[in-house]
Amino acid sequence: MNEINSTDYHDYVIKDGKLIAQFEQMYKNASDIPWRQNQQESWIDVRLTKELLADEKNISRIIDYGCGTGHYLDILVRGLGGNGLGFDISETAIVKAQNNFPNYSFKTGDLMNPNSFDVASINEESIHVIRGTLWYVFPKLSVVIKNIFDQMSSGDTLLVVQNFPPLSSNFVGKDVIPDPQTLISLIDKSTLSLQKSIWYEQFKDNANDSWFIGKFKK
Ligand SMILES: C[S@@+](CC[C@H](N)C(=O)[O-])C[C@H]1O[C@@H](n2cnc3c(N)ncnc32)[C@H](O)[C@@H]1O
Repeated sequence: MNEINSTDYHDYVIKDGKLIAQFEQMYKNASDIPWRQNQQESWIDVRLTKELLADEKNISRIIDYGCGTGHYLDILVRGLGGNGLGFDISETAIVKAQNNFPNYSFKTGDLMNPNSFDVASINEESIHVIRGTLWYVFPKLSVVIKNIFDQMSSGDTLLVVQNFPPLSSNFVGKDVIPDPQTLISLIDKSTLSLQKSIWYEQFKDNANDSWFIGKFKK
């Protein structure tokens, strides 16, 4: 694999219509915090997710798969309570996340690799979250879903939050997840039942800023 020499995080993610997925190098070399993870508090999906989860109570733990620098996990824990646990494929991201949020736990783990998580089961409800990460793991989506499913206890929630490019455009991953309905059916297959969802579609420009938010129960 070619070494990438860039301080622009985009160069490590998707380039020229191809998935690059060099996240460890990205977190090491990027000059900015990738995806502006530290500035998401007012984003539309964050506001909509708050509404979707408004009646959640007694959350003991929130687990974020593909947690990056931990900022999104922190938004959820501040809103809902509980302990925070984050996993990411990048060791450098995990070190940054742990420095940012010393009260939560962070570990490396690969969503596309079977058995790479070890979430201890507890007697109270946990929320398992995957946000903004599916476009980087879609080649093994069934493994990703099973990996998370295997960490969930009965009664736990899975929150899937995913931005989409304009559905009519040609985007990387469209062959697997062409639209939110397909995503729902791919997740439903593995015995998680959809409880609520929001599809926020943005037609204004070509931005990657339409959002699917789904709450599933095991
Ligand atoms: C767009 S960021 C989302 C970060 C965070 N969830 C948020 O919403 O702010 C995607 C994250 O997924 C991580 N990631 C990519 N592929 C992964 C994999 N196979 N296993 C675990 N994490 C992965 C990347 O390192 C990156 O931190």
